[in-house]
Amino acid sequence: MMDTTKFIEESIKSIKEEVKDEKVIIALSGGVDSSVASILASKAIGNQLEAVFVDHGLLRKNEAKEVEDTFKDRLNFKLVNAQDEFIEALDGVTDPEKKREIIGHKFIEVFEREAKKSGAKYLLQGTIAPDWIESKGNIKSHHNLTLPEGLVLKIIEPLRELYKDEVREVGTALELPDAIVHRQPFPGPGLAVRVLGNITKEKLEICREANAILTQHVENEGLDKDLWQYFVVLTDSKVTGVKGDQRDFGYLVVIRMVQSFDAMTANVPDIPWPFLHKVSQEITANVPEITHVSLSLSNKPPSTIEFE
Ligand code: XMP
Repeated sequence: MMDTTKFIEESIKSIKEEVKDEKVIIALSGGVDSSVASILASKAIGNQLEAVFVDHGLLRKNEAKEVEDTFKDRLNFKLVNAQDEFIEALDGVTDPEKKREIIGHKFIEVFEREAKKSGAKYLLQGTIAPDWIESKGNIKSHHNLTLPEGLVLKIIEPLRELYKDEVREVGTALELPDAIVHRQPFPGPGLAVRVLGNITKEKLEICREANAILTQHVENEGLDKDLWQYFVVLTDSKVTGVKGDQRDFGYLVVIRMVQSFDAMTANVPDIPWPFLHKVSQEITANVPEITHVSLSLSNKPPSTIEFE
């Protein structure tokens, strides 16, 4: 068992010693790892840390506002609205890996701009043990990152030796709200991999609304505690429906709910039918562009958790 108090004290001391009076920047996503790293570092160096949250326009309903509300009084927080830049760059792109590549590059471009403005010499990252053990066994704890335009940042990774459950413990000890500490994983490319095919602002909005309805019902029923991820996928298929005595033609969405320990495998648990019927009805009643709700039944493998 890790001694959380000791870990926090030692991390604060070592960040202070390393950084001295230099500036530090982090790309804060609102996920548990970058959130805990940010709070920990801000306890050590206060406003010398700038936490940059990039709103790429591919976030869930109210997500930017929730992250901003959580952090704006806890640390030196900066919200960067880059929605139009990302949506423009994704215009007409349908291939999932191409979407990831474009979003990744754009993210670096936006973040580099912020890093330059901040005058930071250090980059704080929320890397945890499985990230480097699974990637290439890189055990070097201090290294530099050279960004495309030649900006060199020294990397600090205070959570490098921790596993997810330990990061959550540290987060709780640092008084981060449960909504952050127990947040479900959300892919970096966000809704871009849940809105299938071409991305438009309208499709993102439809996906967001349906997803918010599912999320609220899952949380109200307390089902979230047993689920690894739960979300709505907007397919690029339109299907026929009926509204009053009129033929309707709208989107087909898929509800995906999985259990998992590490995302390497996942299974679809038994979900009570009355719950599913209710969510389906709420979605079609409140999101008029959707005519049909379906349920994903496939485990991983053979499927992946995300649809793209
Ligand atoms: P898959 O879909 O491969 O997902 O079964 C496994 C886990 O990874 C998340 N995921 C991503 N996370 N960037 C990320 O940061 C991505 O491009 C990405 N694709 C999938 C997914 O949500 C699941 O938790």
